[in-house]
Amino acid sequence: MEPLKLGIAGLGTVGAGLLELLTANGAHFANIVGREIRITGVSARSRSKARDAATAGIPWFDDPVALARDPSNAVFVELIGGEDGIAKAAVEAALNAKKHVVTANKALLAKHGFELARLAEKNGVALNFEAAVAGGIPVIKTLREALGANRVRRVYGILNGTCNYILTQMQTEKRPFEDVLKEAQALGYAEADPTFDIGGFDTAHKLALLTSLAFGTRVAFDQIHVEGIQSITQADIEATDSLGYRIKLLGVATETESGIEARVSPALVYKDSAIAEVSGVTNAVAIDGDFSGNILLVGAGAGAKPTASAIAGDILDIARGLIVPPFVTPTAKLKAHKRAKLDQHYGSYYVRLALYDKPGAMAAIARRMGDRGVSLESIVQHRPQTLHAPGAASHLSKDKAQPVIIITHETTEEAMRKALETIEKDGNVTERPQMIRIEEL
Ligand code: NDP
Ligand code: HSE
Repeated sequence: MEPLKLGIAGLGTVGAGLLELLTANGAHFANIVGREIRITGVSARSRSKARDAATAGIPWFDDPVALARDPSNAVFVELIGGEDGIAKAAVEAALNAKKHVVTANKALLAKHGFELARLAEKNGVALNFEAAVAGGIPVIKTLREALGANRVRRVYGILNGTCNYILTQMQTEKRPFEDVLKEAQALGYAEADPTFDIGGFDTAHKLALLTSLAFGTRVAFDQIHVEGIQSITQADIEATDSLGYRIKLLGVATETESGIEARVSPALVYKDSAIAEVSGVTNAVAIDGDFSGNILLVGAGAGAKPTASAIAGDILDIARGLIVPPFVTPTAKLKAHKRAKLDQHYGSYYVRLALYDKPGAMAAIARRMGDRGVSLESIVQHRPQTLHAPGAASHLSKDKAQPVIIITHETTEEAMRKALETIEKDGNVTERPQMIRIEEL
């Protein structure tokens, strides 16, 4: 059988990982699909850059679009990144030239996934993106194939390795946020612009793709509520730990009667829940199908090797001739995404307030919550060690503010937001209240 010929654009963390895999496991790969995999062209920004990737003897293309159009390859692998620009131009060029495309680029797909899928379908080629969601975990394949016959009710998970790594290190080693972020970047986990990670946008890109696959809707990144982990302090980590919780950045999409509630935010989960145990760069994705029940997939969420594994799996499918609609449901049948109002979200909340130490301040807080029908499970004045550490939250001691931790009973998000707005306006707190949803998973 003819070799399967690949053009690979992007030789960074992921591209180098793919070349390493194809070198290490090329013979095994050829053995199982019955055809050799041959790289007929590579492209990156700088030809002269020293690289670990073994590219000697492989034709070099300065322009990824030229590689995408080059007739020497049948599969274009896009590992550059970015929601527009050269990555989009190259993927479109490849699809228009009737090439199969494999990409790890969730930003591109979250913004243009519907149009690109339509183009792939029109040209009868594959658009595979297993590596775009949760690194090495085969979640796209699970939704497309194994669970394809289910109606999915909810999909959620820890979808960003960088954030989970940061939160875990803050928890276990009490290391400062910025130090751990630098380490995650050095390990190749973070996006080129790490704001995408810590701001929650990378998780939202992935959740947008999962939502489309799970509920048969058009990819709608702009319909996702996004909060990042920048506001999480060591004080939150300690307070929640003492109450029996872990903080995780979660992406959650649920189909409700009023539409899809899709949100990315830090969340409190019980320490003894399966998701709380997912630590470091590990990701987890839970899929609740009407016949399958709840399934939890756990594995490495970022890094060269796990990501390369996912990309190679996509190439394997193409080598075997397996081509399915990119979002399971053919694009002509994908529904519009109807957004449910987050105000109506019903659940419990963690609140951390920096409360002025003066008579009546605590009573005023309880009253304001009560005015909005928010009932309190517990309210405690908390003095974590870190608040008294050198350089930590010095404004609190200066203003004689006391950290107060509240756990509420279940209520609506609207009631919580309005209560906290009033508390802030009353002037009893020295900074914006911290509010984190508690997830019953
Ligand atoms: P890197 O920044 O490490 O690599 C990007 C590559 O793209 C580099 O080789 C760079 O060239 C090349 N490149 C950049 N601009 C151009 C251009 N204009 N023309 C040609 N080549 C260009 O990124 P990653 O490998 O980490 O990520 C690649 C993709 O994979 C992204 O979409 C990312 O979101 C996704 N991803 C990353 C994961 C990870 O763990 N890192 C996991 C899952 C997905 P040069 O080497 O010369 O600078
Ligand atoms: N920056 C991403 C993460 C890479 O940390 O999860 C994997 O998609």
